[in-house]
Amino acid sequence: MVIKTSDGREFPVEMHKARMVQKISLIPAEDRLKAIKEAGYNTFQLKTKDIFLDMLTDSGTNAMSDKQFAGFMTTDDAYAGSMTFYDFVDAVKDVLGYKYVMNAHQGRAAEHLLAKTFVKEGQVVPTNYHFTTTKVHIELPGAKILEIYYDEALETKSTNPFKGCMDPRKLRDVIKKYGKENIAYVRMEATTNLLGGQPYSMANLREIVKISKEAGLLTVLDGSLICENAYLIMQREKGYENKTVGEIVKEMCSLFDIFYMSARKNTCVRGGCIATNNKELFDKITPWLPVYEGFFTYGGMSQREVGMMTVGMREMTDPSVAGSAVEQVKYFANRLEEVGIPVVTPPGGLACHIDARKFLPHVPKEDYIAGALTAALYIASGVRSMERGTVSMERNPDGSEAYADLELTRIAIPRRVYTVSQIEYVINRVEWLYKHRELIKGMKWVSEPPVLRFFIGSLDVLDNWSRELCDAFKKDFGKNL
Ligand SMILES: Cc1ncc(COP(=O)(O)O)c(C=O)c1O
Repeated sequence: MVIKTSDGREFPVEMHKARMVQKISLIPAEDRLKAIKEAGYNTFQLKTKDIFLDMLTDSGTNAMSDKQFAGFMTTDDAYAGSMTFYDFVDAVKDVLGYKYVMNAHQGRAAEHLLAKTFVKEGQVVPTNYHFTTTKVHIELPGAKILEIYYDEALETKSTNPFKGCMDPRKLRDVIKKYGKENIAYVRMEATTNLLGGQPYSMANLREIVKISKEAGLLTVLDGSLICENAYLIMQREKGYENKTVGEIVKEMCSLFDIFYMSARKNTCVRGGCIATNNKELFDKITPWLPVYEGFFTYGGMSQREVGMMTVGMREMTDPSVAGSAVEQVKYFANRLEEVGIPVVTPPGGLACHIDARKFLPHVPKEDYIAGALTAALYIASGVRSMERGTVSMERNPDGSEAYADLELTRIAIPRRVYTVSQIEYVINRVEWLYKHRELIKGMKWVSEPPVLRFFIGSLDVLDNWSRELCDAFKKDFGKNL
């Protein structure tokens, strides 16, 4: 819920209370410098004992509800035919409107099954924007992902409420150029993760699906962040202000042939699913399910997780859940903007994104701008964020660097985990970092894996800037913070 004060300010109030807590601690800057060095300046490689606020991701890090924990206790542990799975099928029918559903162990496993079934060598997959794992699963069979967003999507400072839209003109061009048989499917991603959590509008979704269907193309919705997109449509799109998040979610799903999601986000558990109303399509995917995931009634998840996901599915469209991250992101981004920090606007779902190119204009693109800022933020605060820039890209087939469209430091907001006072702490440390940004220089690879290098690769700083940054921090805050 958002509270308005008498002087016109707004701030989000958490619509839940903590009944169980986990202790966290803030290690001093000198120890943080040691930890990030050991982690190869890659925040994925940090250990949580060294992290104060873990804002790496909203994936698998959300707080579950008491009812979800109860769902954990009342599940039916059976390899085959578990009634827990059939309860899940009912929840999917009620919430998303799909009749046929299978589980997968997480979102990328669903992507793997879809690519295995529908993507062939030489084909293309038009999308509003790629996600890292999606791209790899489409490229592994020898296909190509085509990102056909409106050009404005890459403007980090904007008032366009729907930068996650697909450009229909570009889709028509793609159809003309490649032909139906060379397009595996058209993929839309709800609140484009790598574009700063930006939503699409319902009007755009309808137009894209209409064009795709007229061309006889299969349509796939990546609904991993569907509730945030629905919440933003409710807030921003004319004609939807009086609809519920649940109604908007169902309307989106009704347009697509196939839906898939990572359960780690909106439903707050480990897992995923694929759903459809088309039995023929469903029957094409199912043979791969026991090969890669598991039996039809658990698909790589434990029944306990399926039970918790069922409750999470029924709870996720509640505005206090769907809006919990969106409202905190909005507050966070607006406050950072107020103090002059370049952030992605308008704020989207999942995270507050800092535009690292504008934050560090002196760092050349070859030196991994967002990677440097992400490491610097950890040194200055103990906050773990994620690089979403060139480090997160795959190299071109000839080995040359593929520079990212955007260089972002993503400070994710796990659902119902952190409070506004904790967000205020981050704002304060980002502000300090901005004042000392000249100290931050670039990075270089030390060890670079061939695929999804951002997960386990290690880097080093150029000119030992991390030492200087740490010393400046200690000078201002002492050696204990
Ligand atoms: C839009 C989107 N699709 C797919 C995935 C992959 O899901 P998972 O991490 O569960 O494999 C993610 C994960 O962050 C995502 O944001």
